Amino acid sequence: MTSLITLRKSVALSFVALYLLIGVPLWYKLTTIYRASLPIEYIQDLYNNKFKEIHLTIPVFVKSDTYRFPDIHDAVQIQVNHLLRSKRQYVDWSLEIFPYNETIIDQATARGDDYHIVDLVLDEFVGYNLPYDSKTTIVYFDDTSVASNDLPFFIAQTLVEHTFELEWNHWSLKPDQNEPEQLANSDIAVNYNPNIHLSMSLLNGDGSPVAWEIDNTLKNIFTPFREMISPLVNFTVDAQIAYYNDLNLYQLNNVSNPTWHDLSHVIDLSELSTTNYFVEQNAINLVIVFPGKETNLDGLQFVNTNEENQWGSFIVPQWGVLIVNKSPLEDNALVTENYLNPIMLKFVKDLLRLLGVLDTKDKELSSPYIVIDSVKRIRIIDNLNKAVETLWSLIKLTHQFQQMAIPQEVLEDITNALDMRLELIDLLNNPHVGSNMDWNKALLMSNEIVKSCEKAFFHGEMLQQNFFPQEHKLAVYLPLLGPLSVVIFSGVKALFNEKKSESEEDITSKDEKKGLEEDIAEELKETKELGAIDDKDSISTPASTD
Ligand SMILES: *[C@@H]1O[C@H](CO)[C@@H](O)[C@H](O)[C@H]1NC(C)=O
Ligand SMILES: *[C@@H]1O[C@H](CO)[C@@H](O)[C@H](O)[C@H]1NC(C)=O
Ligand SMILES: *[C@@H]1O[C@H](CO)[C@@H](O)[C@H](O)[C@H]1NC(C)=O
Repeated sequence: MTSLITLRKSVALSFVALYLLIGVPLWYKLTTIYRASLPIEYIQDLYNNKFKEIHLTIPVFVKSDTYRFPDIHDAVQIQVNHLLRSKRQYVDWSLEIFPYNETIIDQATARGDDYHIVDLVLDEFVGYNLPYDSKTTIVYFDDTSVASNDLPFFIAQTLVEHTFELEWNHWSLKPDQNEPEQLANSDIAVNYNPNIHLSMSLLNGDGSPVAWEIDNTLKNIFTPFREMISPLVNFTVDAQIAYYNDLNLYQLNNVSNPTWHDLSHVIDLSELSTTNYFVEQNAINLVIVFPGKETNLDGLQFVNTNEENQWGSFIVPQWGVLIVNKSPLEDNALVTENYLNPIMLKFVKDLLRLLGVLDTKDKELSSPYIVIDSVKRIRIIDNLNKAVETLWSLIKLTHQFQQMAIPQEVLEDITNALDMRLELIDLLNNPHVGSNMDWNKALLMSNEIVKSCEKAFFHGEMLQQNFFPQEHKLAVYLPLLGPLSVVIFSGVKALFNEKKSESEEDITSKDEKKGLEEDIAEELKETKELGAIDDKDSISTPASTD
């Protein structure tokens, strides 16, 4: 009998224990908001002064074969510093002029790397040249310029205003300007992303089968370009053919010299953009469209052709390039490599604008290695800026929504980004570090920093909790937890009160109780034999038999 009571008590107690030891902590864990403490002041400081610790330096080696100029690098350095100081800079940057060091350059060449080099060449005139295929600046000088000691200034001017033109134009601020201008015409360029998807389509207005030699064209024209630009952006490419779609371009036949603006009234490119799925966030399209025979027997009149090309090309801002062919395709046509190559060349040029590398329409990429090198540095600084902006937005958000959770992972991502940022700045500031590969590495690091910050900002738990404030949570849990707690605690209380009254009884009528117990035991035995055992509780509760 006593053991039965002990059992009931221990069961009741284990309920309470379960309630207190597991239920309450679980409830607490599920409902309390974890807010990791973020380095708010540090981030605010960075936000207020984004480039404080940055003194970006680019090493340049000066080489002279004809004359030995022992101190030319020092003289050029003075002129470069002077020139750079003449304008306020958005980010502190400078050139570090070194005498030509064969060991360093040879080592770099051996590992497929290179540095900026100034090559001094004695000539009849003073001038410069930026060759197509290297990061060398050739400066021509004559004896007069040496005698009048103008050479160092001329070298400095060539470097700052031509070789490093992009940095100089982008980072120099006008007196009333606080932020640099966008890298290139940002109304055309897509947002920078290290991975971009290229979607190439051939649209045929008719249903007759078409083949195109796009693979060869890609291999011969696009692959070299892709390799050159891969430190800046990597492409994934898909190519497809679609039938019975010529974007209804015949509607433009009464317009002469249509611009993209005119085209945009007629065609809807959004249906093309959504036809394929890709993982990259950004995509650039190349669409080559052939009109249908039915509507365009004489070809599209607005397309201006010449002997070389039977097509016109339109840059579609932030979307890609549209190539419009004048004439419909024959049945079972093969669009040859020879036809596609000039299209691909034009596309590659336009791609540079869409990527924000080239800014003006008619400018050719005269020295692609130098330009791409500069664009890397500008992207690095833009990335650092973007990272700090993202962190600051996150801080503002967590400040504004006090109920918002800040998971530990968010703190880890932020710490990771801030550590990497310091590491990157060490690299940027080191005047001896600045080969091609160093800039590639720095760009990758800056991309990682941006990624880490965005990961922190878009952490799922943070946004989710934001829409489930504390008051709502209480309202949801209270109807459930209230009754549960009442049942458990009142049950336990009742049981213990019962026990107490019972032990009082024990003292007064022990014998009587013993007899009673025997009776019950006998009764129990009988019922058991009858196979009709029923409610145990009614038996073990002596109070009810009173
Ligand atoms: C070239 O660089 C190497 C390695 O940094 C250095 O040891 C050497 O002294 C330098 N040579 C000259 C001529 O400056
Ligand atoms: C592009 O891919 C190559 C090879 O995987 C890699 O080395 C390079 O860093 C990538 N570039 C960028 C901008 O991520
Ligand atoms: C050209 O023709 C289309 C339809 O045929 C018409 O909507 C449009 O207004 C015309 N444009 C001009 C400039 O005539």
